[in-house]
Order: sequence, then C-alpha cells, then structure tokens
Amino acid sequence: MKPIRIFLSAIMMVSILSVSVFAAQTQDRQIRLLLQRMTLEEKIGQLTQYSYGMDLTGPAGEPIKPEEEIRKGRIGSLLNATGAEKTRELQTIAVEESRLGIPLLFGLDVIHGYRTIFPIPLGEAASWDLSAIEQSARIAAIEASAAGVNWTFAPMVDIARDPRWGRIMEGAGEDPYLGAEVARARVRGFQGNDLGRSDTILACAKHFAAYGAAQAGRDYSTVDISRRTLHEIYLPPFKAAAEAGAGTFMNAFNELNGIPCTGNRYLVREVLKKRWGFDGFVVSDWDSIKEMIVHGFAEDGRHAAELAMHAGCDMDMMSAAYIAHMADLVRQGKVPPAQIDEAVTRILSVKKRVGLFKDPYQYCSPERERELLLNDKHQAIARDVARKSIVLLKNENGTLPLDRDLKRIALIGPLADNQTDPLGSWSAKGEDKDIITLRRGIMDAVSSNTEVLFARGCDIDGEGTQDMAEAVRVACKADVIIAALGESKNMSGEAHCRGDIGLPGRQLELLQKLQATGKPVVLVLMNGRPLTLVWPSQNIPAILETWLLGTQTGPAIADVLFGKVNPSGKLPVTFPYALGQVPIFYNHKMTGRPGVKGQAYRSTYADIPVEPLYPFGFGLSYTQFSYSPIRLNRAKVAYDEIANVSTTVTNTGSRQGAEVVQLYIRDLKASVTRPVKELKGFSKIDLKPGESRKVTFALTAEDLAFYNQTMTKVTEPGKFEVFVGGNSRDVLKAEFTLLSK
Ligand code: BGC
Repeated sequence: MKPIRIFLSAIMMVSILSVSVFAAQTQDRQIRLLLQRMTLEEKIGQLTQYSYGMDLTGPAGEPIKPEEEIRKGRIGSLLNATGAEKTRELQTIAVEESRLGIPLLFGLDVIHGYRTIFPIPLGEAASWDLSAIEQSARIAAIEASAAGVNWTFAPMVDIARDPRWGRIMEGAGEDPYLGAEVARARVRGFQGNDLGRSDTILACAKHFAAYGAAQAGRDYSTVDISRRTLHEIYLPPFKAAAEAGAGTFMNAFNELNGIPCTGNRYLVREVLKKRWGFDGFVVSDWDSIKEMIVHGFAEDGRHAAELAMHAGCDMDMMSAAYIAHMADLVRQGKVPPAQIDEAVTRILSVKKRVGLFKDPYQYCSPERERELLLNDKHQAIARDVARKSIVLLKNENGTLPLDRDLKRIALIGPLADNQTDPLGSWSAKGEDKDIITLRRGIMDAVSSNTEVLFARGCDIDGEGTQDMAEAVRVACKADVIIAALGESKNMSGEAHCRGDIGLPGRQLELLQKLQATGKPVVLVLMNGRPLTLVWPSQNIPAILETWLLGTQTGPAIADVLFGKVNPSGKLPVTFPYALGQVPIFYNHKMTGRPGVKGQAYRSTYADIPVEPLYPFGFGLSYTQFSYSPIRLNRAKVAYDEIANVSTTVTNTGSRQGAEVVQLYIRDLKASVTRPVKELKGFSKIDLKPGESRKVTFALTAEDLAFYNQTMTKVTEPGKFEVFVGGNSRDVLKAEFTLLSK
C-alpha cells in the first residue's frame, strides 16, 4: 500500500503546484479580486450547470428551482434557456440579485443552425468548402446570440469510422486532416474574430475524446484504442479546435482504455491543458461525472466529484455532484483549494472573454431576435451551403440534370413531401413548418407545363405496403421518377445507432418496383450516415446523396436536379459495400497479406469484396475533370525543404463545375507501419468548360511526421508516395525521397 500512497500524493503535489500557478498567474486583476471575494460555496456555484426546462438528453436528477439557486450564487451557467426575454430575466437575477452579481453563461446545442437550419454537419463536411462551413457556423452564431445564447456545445469534432454510430451525423466524418480543417472553420464561424462581440458565441469542442470509436458502433459504448490511434486519428481535430481558440471543451461519456474520459487526467490535464496550453474551461457531458459510478470507476457521487476535479473537469453539467460534495471534499483535504481556484479562474476568464462583465445583457435583444431569425439572407446562405453539400454518387448516361420542361415527373417516397425529417437531429430551434420540402422545391423549379405527380409509396420504417401499388401507378404515368428515400431524423443522432444500415422498412422494395416500370429513376437519398446501397448502385442510373439538408432542403436539391447548380460534394466518409466491412476507412494499414482477389490466405472476405462501394473523397459532377501527371519540384528532398506537388486540372466537359483536388501521402517504410494513404491537403477549385488550373501543394517535414515507437513525433527520411486525385481511390502517383537531416 505504502508506495502507492506516496505515488498518489506526488501526483497530487504536482497538480496542486501547477493549478495554483494557473490561478496566481492570471494577469486579470478584476478576476483575481473577484476570486478573493468569493466564498467556497460561491466558487462551486460557478462550477455548476443545470438545464433550464425540459430539453433532457439524460437523467433529470433532483428537481431544483433555478431562479432561487441563481439568486444564492449556486449556478454559473444554464443550458437550454433560450430567447432574448427569458435569458434577460434570468441574467437579471444573477447580476442584480446574487451577492456578487456574476453573470451566467447560457449554453445550447447549436449544432447546425439555430432557427435557420443548415445541413447536418456530416453533410456540410461533404462540401469540403471551408468558407461555406464557417459561414454556416457564423449564421448560427448570429441567430443564437440574438436569442440570448452565448455558448454552443459545438463543434462536435469526433472522428467516426463506424456508420452504425448515430452521432456520425454530427461530425466531419472519418479523416483527421479534414476533421481538423472543419473544426477550425466551425470555431472561427462561431467565435468570429472577437468573442466579446454580441453576435459571436463561445464554441465547445466535444466530446473529448475518442467518443466516435465506440465498440460495435453503439453510443456511449467502451473505447479501447492504442495511444497512437488516439493521437494520430482522434485528437487532431481537437488540437485544431484548441489552436483556433475554442473557449471550451466537453468531456466524452465513454471510457478510454479503462478510464472514463470525465475522470481522465491524462487527457484533460496532461494533453489538453498542459501540452496544448488550453486556457479555456472543460465542461462535463450531461451527468457524465456521476456516470463514472455506473462505469465502475467511482464509488459514489462524492468520489465521482473528486475524480472529475482531479482530472481537470471544471464545470459539472447536470450531475450536481460538485454542488453536493465539493465543499466537503475541500474541507476534508481531498480536493486542494487550488484546483477549485483554477476551475473558477478558467470559467470567469471565459465569461470575461465573452463580454459578460462589460455587458451581461448584450445577447438578450428582442429586436435583434425578431430581425435576424430565419431572415432572407440566412435562408439564401442556407440554400447555398445545402447545395454545396450534395454528393452525386452515380449518373449513368447523363440522366441528370433533368430538363425543367419535362411533361410529367413522378415524385415518390416517404421523404418527398416530408415536413419533419430533413431538419436532422440536433436542430435547436428549427421548426418543421420552416422546411421547404423537396416537393415544393421541385414544383417551384419546373416549368409551368410540367406536371409533378406525387405518391408516398411507403413509410420510412415499418412494414406497411398499402401505398405501394398507388405509387407504382403514379410512376407509370411519368417521364422520369424521382425517388426520395432514406432515414428519419431520429435514426441518427445521440443514442440512435443502427444495426442495419440499409434503406429502412420497405423502401428498397419500393425502389425495386419503381425501377421495374422501366422509366428512368433518380434516387435522392436523405440520411444521417453512410448507407449500404449495392442494389441501387447497380440498378438505378442516377443517385444523389443529400444527407439531411435542413430548412432549404427542397430548393437546394431542385437546384442540383435541374442543373442550376453543378454538384461538387465529396464523401467525408467511406460508404461500405456491406455492413460486414465495418469499421471501414480509407487510411487503413497494409497488413502482411493484403487482399488480392482470387488468392487464398489473404486479408479478404469469402462473400463480399474488400473495397467499399464508394470511397472516401468520392463524388461526381455534371462535367468531367482531367488531371495532368504529378510534378514534383525535386525527386530528392532535403529534410528541411518543402516538397511541392503539383498537377494541372482541366474541366474537359461542357459545364462549369467545382472539383475538390485531394492530396494523399504514403510513407513506404518507417519504424512504425503507416497507413496506405493519408490526406494531407485539398483544394476546391471552380473551372469553366475548357479551363485549366495548376494546383500546388507544399509538403513539409511536419506533414510527414508520425508517432514513433516511443510516442515521440518524428519525420523519418526515406521514400514517400504522393497521390493526387478527385477521390481517395482514383489517383495519380509519384514518389520522392526525403533525405536525412
Ligand atoms: C450530449 C452532448 C450535449 C449535451 C447537452 C449530451 O447528451 O452528449 O453532446 O451537448 O447532452 O445537451
């Protein structure tokens, strides 16, 4: 026992020293003085967050009277309180009726829009258009901040390699490089250049960390991954968010290699706060402090509070463990007062950055709320972002775009005239009635001579077939059939995982019946995750992946269907051939026996291919692009030199279009095996018919770095392959040698 106790107290000493340094080093006099005036109970109040109202995503806990608690200084932040007037009312209690008048933070899950709902984040990531993604977050911030919200629990930057996991819809897909770029863009969009302005909101990078690696794709499930995979795959988007200045981080629900993230001092204190120098604060996830008891890590609520505080969790969302036990833990010597001071200093400093000490009411403006929510400008931007998010998966014989003068179009399917599901999960204050459906969008886009026939065909889920015969009858009358199929908004998102990722219910059967009519069929998919689509990919001439596009669903899809806009999205995540391939991702390792068709004792399946149906980065256009052979500035690159990789891309078709030019590398031999491909750059370029553009990527030693056997980040000299192309599969290749230092 003894040595262990000595070891523990040594850790405690280090932690006491480093945290007291944090609080003492605060240059801010106002915060130092405030801290001096606070009682222990008031300090713990700042570390406490409750939900206002009933937007619950977890256990509700003991009911409290928030107004009374605010008055007593026992709450530092609320989530789910919205509206300029309501938040002003609550803020007034905090500022005028609590002893120290410390303003509240108001948090909400503003994930893809506040009232104007943008595409689900996975869809937006498919645009590979960082300024569009930033703009979407900017509009979300403008609307939310006008309605009293000054903190969003976004961006979710969890890498997801398993499409069963429902929260795959909430992130940027499977790749750490793309994920990091998108994380930066979203933080910039929410926080702007100056977090103190009244139209910016505090970002929260979540869920720290590796939540997307849940075993079996089941939400909240165990995560057990190597430290290398953690650092190379799951952490880069978080690091990018911290570098971009994200003011807060959220703990993940899951355990990571045996230690729940909320009690994981390596993750929070060592990596985030020490190595990355993060000076914002960390909030737990909903009740995740107390859930450490269920994990089998904490004895009871008191122990859970102690573990979370030691690990660096500054604010308790909804478990009420801090408010119940922390004062006692401090008095008993279990938690050093310096840890509390650190947490409070972090929270107060962020409140100051948000501008709350200057003007606590700056976010509560009923006029701005009335003027800004869902206004025309925001609608127009949402439409633009939505059409940029659409991915053309197949287009045989130029089926698309459709002629807007067609005589009759049959629009079939449970998502065709759907006024609910296109909002997607986590749609904040988005309202069904704001959605412009696909049916409406198409009717507005076609000529006055075109008849748009409609039939639902079947439900999204379930076994009912009563509408199917009618749908086929309607389809037979048309020149072309548009089938709008996919998932409901509740089939993805938190706690909405699927064990089968095919088209749910009887939708595939409906599609097969429509195809059997012999009419051309365009499949418009609306869904929150990759689906298995083998039959459609082999039998339907045109397929559009539209995700769940939000308020402007109909106009955006119609823009693409009728060629007003040329699709330019690319998959941010692999679409598997079959569920049995999952988890599947493009940046896998080689193995000693890579799959070779027809050869025995290889890394293959007996019944399905090894290759995915649609690879990462894939997406077609109504035009075509050609790539000139890769040019390297030199074949042998000195260690501290830059390797320039260039190609000239030409639009060889007859329409203007945008192409996402992607750069991948492979380190051919290293002291630790490296992935077969790693994305290291991309550039989205717009080209007129016949136009060419040279695209150059600069690779530095840092881009070629990885963690070696001792987990030190190194770049090892040797041969590297570089690949350039319009997706991760169809690429041109070249090679260079990196010379020793
Ligand atoms: C989710 C978080 C979310 C929180 C507050 C939790 O269930 O995991 O992502 O921010 O609820 O709504």
